[in-house]
Amino acid sequence: MIIESGTSLRDTRETIGLSQAKLAEITGIPQHALSGYELGKFELDKRQLNQLQSVLGNAGLVSGTIARKKRYQSHEYKAVVHDPRRVDRYAQTLGNKLYLELLSSLSSERASLAGTAISLFSGCGGLSLGFAWAGFAVKGFLELDPALRRIYSMNFPHAKELGADITKLSDDKIKAAHSITGDVDLIIGGPPCQGFSLSGKRDVNDPRNTLFLDYLRFVDVYKPKIAVLENVRLLTSMKSSEGHYVKDEIKREFEKRGYLVGLFDANAKDYGVPQHRERVFFIAVRRDLGASPSFPDLTHGQAGDGDLFSNFAPCRTFADACSDLTFLESGETANDPMHAAVAHPQHVIDWLWDVPEGQSAHDNDDPSKRPPSGYNTTYKRQVWAEPGATVQTTFGMISGCRNVHPIATRSLTVREAARLQSFPDSYKFTGSLGSIRTGIGNAVPPLLAYAIAKHISKAL
Ligand SMILES: C[S@@+](CC[C@H](N)C(=O)[O-])C[C@H]1O[C@@H](n2cnc3c(N)ncnc32)[C@H](O)[C@@H]1O
Repeated sequence: MIIESGTSLRDTRETIGLSQAKLAEITGIPQHALSGYELGKFELDKRQLNQLQSVLGNAGLVSGTIARKKRYQSHEYKAVVHDPRRVDRYAQTLGNKLYLELLSSLSSERASLAGTAISLFSGCGGLSLGFAWAGFAVKGFLELDPALRRIYSMNFPHAKELGADITKLSDDKIKAAHSITGDVDLIIGGPPCQGFSLSGKRDVNDPRNTLFLDYLRFVDVYKPKIAVLENVRLLTSMKSSEGHYVKDEIKREFEKRGYLVGLFDANAKDYGVPQHRERVFFIAVRRDLGASPSFPDLTHGQAGDGDLFSNFAPCRTFADACSDLTFLESGETANDPMHAAVAHPQHVIDWLWDVPEGQSAHDNDDPSKRPPSGYNTTYKRQVWAEPGATVQTTFGMISGCRNVHPIATRSLTVREAARLQSFPDSYKFTGSLGSIRTGIGNAVPPLLAYAIAKHISKAL
């Protein structure tokens, strides 16, 4: 059997019905390397290629491996007893009371008008909520996903729907949107990162590659005073097909249009959000305003952060976000329909039951309590007294990255994820659980957005 490329390896594997995990196991080549090779993103060395050839040429080993049954065939579900020591550790913190008071006062107090905005790539509205808290009236929004548009509209009933797919909006439609909303001070929003080309992979026919340019078409028409563009940190290392950093291309495009641009790294935990979440923000300020782009100072930190004179409040923790919520084990539901735990099979509960905070079931000494494949960032418990891990759209999957509750043995509920993202309980979510999870996992935490919006409102 000759393996000439990643594609031929994948074809061979799929034809004979051998999973990538099992191939990794019998070749000793890490699964991520096999996966990267199959996707054309990673080169295997000569020794690994030889190993592949020799293992795949061993028909007995291959057929035996394929025929081997999974260790866990049946999915048995049982009620999980509440362990009194765990329930004791699950005590409400003072920080939790203060956090809930803060979120509820931000939602109920009406800030004086700081300016106007439109929101692009609005998602379920995390970024918009922070700007609204700071007094910005969001006049219009644009979002591709109809389920997220519904959530957005419920929470921002006065914002006009300016369209769905930005790539399908003609320049005339953008002008029409402008005449509906009138001029605004700000454009806010972050095109999804697939919208930027990766080195050598740019496909001009892939509409996702134009999303940033579509954002700029709005800038061309609206000419806002300030544009805020959020993205994942990965963007700062991405290069275009011409070999330029995408971040420099973004800056250049804004500069061509008469804006001064700053690029700022932020971790949400440094602004009072009970979650590690690293993002980048471009702040583009129209040159005629005579101001340079800047970013708010950090407000929260760990002991030892900052210099002698800094005065950080301690970072908020998982417990500060969630310790008032009903203690739930796998499959249980509280009165709040958003606080319902996914039911996990008994063998997964067994793997995770004794896993300490901050560790993964893959770290278990007993091999029978380790998941059969994967890495120790998965099946991992969070830490009660530290900021939560980055909330992703997959937070309901126990096998995902750091999705296990610090004390209970289950994945996170929607309410917990919303709290870690700093959505107040009064924020309305509707639609399928999948859409709600997508909206929450993709959102900019409203408290982080609020810090940026307050900073901008001072400048305006
Ligand atoms: C990272 S999320 C935005 C989250 C939002 N800023 C928040 O704080 O809730 C990006 C959004 O862009 C939307 N999107 C992707 N492609 C789009 C397109 N072509 N037109 C409009 N929206 C699009 C996605 O559906 C997704 O909700």
